[in-house]
Amino acid sequence: MNKLKFAIIGCGRISGNHIKAILDNFEDVELVSVCDILKDRAELRADEYLIKAQEKNIPAIRPNVYSDYREMLQKEDINVCAICTESGYHAEVSLYCLNLKKHVLVEKPMAMSLLDADRMIQTAQKNNVKLAVCHQNRFNPSIQKLRQAIDEGRFGRIFAGTARILWNRNKEYYDKANWRGTWKLDGGCLINQCTHNIDLLQWMINSEINSVYGQTGNYLHPYIQAEDYGSIIIKFKNGAIGNIEGTVCVYPKNLKETLTILGEKGTVIIGGMALNKILVWDFEDKIDSLEEMQQKYNTEIPNVFGNGHNPLYKNFIDSIRNNINPLVDGNEGKKSLSIILMAYKSQKYSRAISYSKDLNIRSEDFEGML
Ligand SMILES: NC(=O)c1ccc[n+]([C@@H]2O[C@H](COP(=O)([O-])OP(=O)(O)OC[C@H]3O[C@@H](n4cnc5c(N)ncnc54)[C@H](O)[C@@H]3O)[C@@H](O)[C@H]2O)c1
Repeated sequence: MNKLKFAIIGCGRISGNHIKAILDNFEDVELVSVCDILKDRAELRADEYLIKAQEKNIPAIRPNVYSDYREMLQKEDINVCAICTESGYHAEVSLYCLNLKKHVLVEKPMAMSLLDADRMIQTAQKNNVKLAVCHQNRFNPSIQKLRQAIDEGRFGRIFAGTARILWNRNKEYYDKANWRGTWKLDGGCLINQCTHNIDLLQWMINSEINSVYGQTGNYLHPYIQAEDYGSIIIKFKNGAIGNIEGTVCVYPKNLKETLTILGEKGTVIIGGMALNKILVWDFEDKIDSLEEMQQKYNTEIPNVFGNGHNPLYKNFIDSIRNNINPLVDGNEGKKSLSIILMAYKSQKYSRAISYSKDLNIRSEDFEGML
């Protein structure tokens, strides 16, 4: 079988995880080209790909380097684009690639407006290509086991869930990239740092959204436009309540991230640096113990990005090969984005926002809100 030919667009911090995931799936895929408007960054990633391939004895050719993705897509024979630019460019770049019938794996958040998210979903459908969003924590073994327990009905009725992200990001972090914390290219901590856990909360509750109430503020980061603290209450159509507390203000460093799911016959809390450790696992059926689950499914991770890009790539490749939906397709990626943008709108108008399918909310509409 021919290898799928990948290109990476945007060669900053997170692109290293994509390089690693491509190499870990080398039997199925190869990296043909890399692109960054700052060409030096693309050169570095091209070198890194080759060096890491040699270290692992993987046959590889140095990817071609570009500073213009349009030129790259004209010159190279690419099947799949991994889009790792600043969030505010995801929609524009994705739509360009999808219209050229390239499969697209886009970093989170998939877009900065629900209209753009819908456009991406429709364009992928129209061109008969796959669109997936990098919510890699869905593939953590602890998270997969939690979702399995839900699918098996072990919780009974789930009445509530809570996502808490108590982190610290200081001035040095924001100074490193001037797009961070801007309404147009990033948003605040809810959409950047908390989006994975928000995605997981809604995935576990597994119901459409009824309404969202949000309160946000900027308390300790006057040099960014968007929020550094947010609290959200979600009412789901199945009656369950979702609670979110997310912040980058915790003194003096990252404290913890947890996902709690409460059911009539079970309680689970997942924690760790990126939801990679089971902290509480207690079911009425007693078919497994906390110690056993921790031993089997807790993992060690190098940083907050975790190890999820590798299985996410596997799942995406599988979806292309077998023409099935990837686990986090465009519609799935849109769910956490909807919750966050509805929370921003709720803050702006001081009321709960009801969900409707044709919501048109754009992050940039909140400029000057806080
Ligand atoms: N999945 C995760 O856990 C995770 C973690 C970190 C970041 N991210 C997401 O990944 C994205 C990138 O984050 P980052 O920290 O790597 O940012 P970064 O600033 O380090 O890198 C972004 C790169 O994109 C390049 N770029 C911008 N426009 C381009 C264009 N038109 N063509 C080619 N390159 C272009 C920039 O020059 C820059 O090098 C963000 O959307 C962020 O939310 C995801």
